[in-house]
Amino acid sequence: MAKQRRELFKTKIGMLLACVGSAMGLANIWMFPARLGEFGGITFLIPYLFFLFGFSSFGLMGEYAFGRKMRKGPVIAFESVLAEKTNNPILKGIGWFPVAALIGILSFYTVIIGWILRYLVLALANSFPTMEEVFFSSFAGTPANIPWTLAAILVTALIVSLGIQKGIERFTTVMMATFYVVVMIMVIRALTLPNALHGVAAMLTPKWEALSHFRIWIYALGMAFFTLSLGGAAMLVYGSYMPEETDIPQTACQTAGLDLLASILCALFTIPAAFSLGINPQAGAALLFIAVPKIMTNMPAGYVFGALFFLCALFAALTSSIVMLEVPVESLISKFSLSRKKAALIISLLAACIAIPLNFDMNVFGTFTDTVAIIIFPLAAVTAGFLIFWVYGAQKALDNINLYAKHKIGRWYAPYMQYVFVPVCLLLVIAGIFLGGL
Ligand code: PHE
Repeated sequence: MAKQRRELFKTKIGMLLACVGSAMGLANIWMFPARLGEFGGITFLIPYLFFLFGFSSFGLMGEYAFGRKMRKGPVIAFESVLAEKTNNPILKGIGWFPVAALIGILSFYTVIIGWILRYLVLALANSFPTMEEVFFSSFAGTPANIPWTLAAILVTALIVSLGIQKGIERFTTVMMATFYVVVMIMVIRALTLPNALHGVAAMLTPKWEALSHFRIWIYALGMAFFTLSLGGAAMLVYGSYMPEETDIPQTACQTAGLDLLASILCALFTIPAAFSLGINPQAGAALLFIAVPKIMTNMPAGYVFGALFFLCALFAALTSSIVMLEVPVESLISKFSLSRKKAALIISLLAACIAIPLNFDMNVFGTFTDTVAIIIFPLAAVTAGFLIFWVYGAQKALDNINLYAKHKIGRWYAPYMQYVFVPVCLLLVIAGIFLGGL
């Protein structure tokens, strides 16, 4: 009965863009171009495509299909799977673990969205040309970012509290569609800058020796995982809002494909623009908050493009923070029958309590971010993978995946997920601990 009452995505495109919004985030904007630079340009695509389409998109199918079958988020879905095997209340409550991991990610994400909001306002005020390079370090990791962090939480909470169709689906559709159109315009701008094509040519020259480094493989694997939001919660919850007749393998491939497109477009803006203007593109926060303002200062019409760039970054990050908040909100609604608004308020307050202290010290922020994203989140993926493919059953998962699929996945899927996917997730956790990289 509860099945009928659950609000589902209304349109196919809205559903897809919500999923792509979850997938496409900061990893695409600030890590992907950096990895291309670090590991021999196009050469990085070899392990990355291998892991994205040969590995994590199969995990994505599993999460989508399991969510659709259970019509519940991780807390109740895993509880009902475990109820047949154990009476232990702690084990049955394991679904809270991926939810907690996501609250952790939400907390540091809102700090970064705060920075993006601040830079969007700076771009609109045309402040980049007079901005000193040290501005970022004088702002990030200080209480000055707290109001911006709270604004990020507020916007996310407002959208989530409007519900699946009127909130999440409507806003992510507009944000994602705008993102792709604007980023394409920015790519054209970057590619028509003097010498920009030399930057692209350098990226397109394969450097085969890069493939012999262990790190390239582990980074590609980590990114393929993180970018598809595979932690046994986000995509599982979106799966639980998918209409019954959704073609799961197709939706998973489209999600991964559009996510890849977003990464490539971001790289096709930053790399040629930086190359043309003789600026070091850098990685991570330094790319967004130091290199990009410099690029915009030196680029013709940089005022307009600066604002557009941070608008895109904002949309990319917000469409991810929305699902990060939706997961714990769904858990409170399903488990304790709270109203959506009350649940959104509780989780927002919790996220604020974690996020505010992260603004006091960049070292604390860095340690928190690394621990959550590199160790806890993949550990949640291992837990979910084990529960879906070993406890619930890989064959049942496959049957659910193939239910309305035009192109069905073969029988190899079940042993592949049990004996390759789950152990490799575990390898990622171990590698995260020892290498400290995603
Ligand atoms: N996929 C997002 C990114 O690439 C991160 C994310 C993780 C989003 C977990 C939702 C859930 O940045």
